[in-house]
Amino acid sequence: MSGRPWDASYWDGSAPWDFGGPQPAVQRVAAAGGFAGTVLDAGCGSGENTLLIASMGLPVLGVDVAETGLKMAREKAAERGISADFAMADALHLERLGRRFETVLDSGLFHTFNTEERQVYAASLATATEYGGTLYVLCFGDEGPDVGPHPVRQEDLRMAFCPGSGWSIASIVPERVRTVFHDENGAPAWLVTVQRSAA
Ligand SMILES: C[S@@+](CC[C@H](N)C(=O)[O-])C[C@H]1O[C@@H](n2cnc3c(N)ncnc32)[C@H](O)[C@@H]1O
Repeated sequence: MSGRPWDASYWDGSAPWDFGGPQPAVQRVAAAGGFAGTVLDAGCGSGENTLLIASMGLPVLGVDVAETGLKMAREKAAERGISADFAMADALHLERLGRRFETVLDSGLFHTFNTEERQVYAASLATATEYGGTLYVLCFGDEGPDVGPHPVRQEDLRMAFCPGSGWSIASIVPERVRTVFHDENGAPAWLVTVQRSAA
């Protein structure tokens, strides 16, 4: 999916992932000092996670294919007086940004891609991440009751960020993803920490 189908999710302001704040798992990464340097938020949507990171004083770029989501993000930034950049960009072609970031966040994007797209996505992310940089992937997980759509298995993650991909998985830990269709405890998730390494 790209372009209009994603954008349509934002037209009536009720995208199922847009529960009204940053993901608690992303807040925990932030509180632990996980974000450093320039930050890219891939598939930023209406920008809650991007704005959380920006509010810490870090330079951050949120990219998405949904123009309405980006418009909402820019409006929130203006309302809250937070400085953050947002741009239309395809996460499968991040080389087009012509930039590299020290930290990259993916909250809810990886699990929307199919197996082939995930290989392309991992390569795309590598083009936009400094060597030694860190990628955090928060995706729906396959363990536990009431899993979200497109639950990801640990082996799916190990396949996408396999040796030779330019990535090295540092950890995969159970987390939760909040949505508008789960209670406030959210759905089972994985928080994956991945280091950019030489291919
Ligand atoms: C499940 S939402 C998550 C939004 C946000 N990160 C959050 O945590 O609330 C996935 C987002 O990825 C965006 N997206 C889907 N495919 C994309 C692509 N190829 N490049 C950039 N963004 C994409 C969608 O438009 C949507 O905003």
